[in-house]
Amino acid sequence: MKKEVRLNAFAMNCVAHQSPGLWTHPRDRTAEYNRLPYWIDLARTLERGRFDGLFLADVLGVYDVFGSSPDAALRNATQTPVNDPLLLISAMAAVTENLGFGVTCTLSYEPPYPFARRMSTLDHLTEGRIGWNVVTGYLDSAARGAGKDKQTAHDDRYDVADEYMEVVYKLWEGSWEDDAALRDRARAIFVDPSKVHRVRHEGKNYRLDAIH
Ligand SMILES: Cc1cc2nc3c(=O)[nH]c(=O)nc-3n(C[C@H](O)[C@H](O)[C@H](O)COP(=O)(O)O)c2cc1C
Repeated sequence: MKKEVRLNAFAMNCVAHQSPGLWTHPRDRTAEYNRLPYWIDLARTLERGRFDGLFLADVLGVYDVFGSSPDAALRNATQTPVNDPLLLISAMAAVTENLGFGVTCTLSYEPPYPFARRMSTLDHLTEGRIGWNVVTGYLDSAARGAGKDKQTAHDDRYDVADEYMEVVYKLWEGSWEDDAALRDRARAIFVDPSKVHRVRHEGKNYRLDAIH
């Protein structure tokens, strides 16, 4: 049997992911990270090069520990500024057919219900080419932005993450049956309500009663 090689590109919706200073090179284009043509060109190049996937790292918050200030990170564009990676995906999916997208999203600052909806939307729009890199974040600056003094302790964050995953799986797998959407024009019935189930969850960190 032939061995398959998997190719995955690594990027971040910012100027410098792991290559600080490279943006000053005359031929470097990463400073255009906040324009769609940059990402569309990248997606087309990866598809043409037979890449399996594009992984987008992400972090919420700024690096403000060095010198007790964000100045160094801002001056050097050290993953700062960094824009939302999920919003890039539709544009890149529109110009590709096979490229997969792995996107990092922290679960620490958003309830499972709206997040699950956004991922489901991308699952539809990409026709199944979206994946989630589940992280809990690592910057106190993000926690302060979300109204906390500092981030939750490591093991407690991962306990919350376990429950978060339980809830999103219930929303994704337990609410709509695969054939719930009838789209029956003749009978004017879009959805068979008997195939859509309420998701209920009562946990330590999350509580919901919802149709996803
Ligand atoms: C390949 C790889 C990519 C990662 N990308 C991110 C990322 O984009 N954002 C992030 O917050 N953490 C990222 N992490 C860090 C993880 O979220 C996690 O903090 C790390 O693996 C250490 O594990 P621990 O939190 O259990 O100590 C990445 C880790 C690995 C191995």
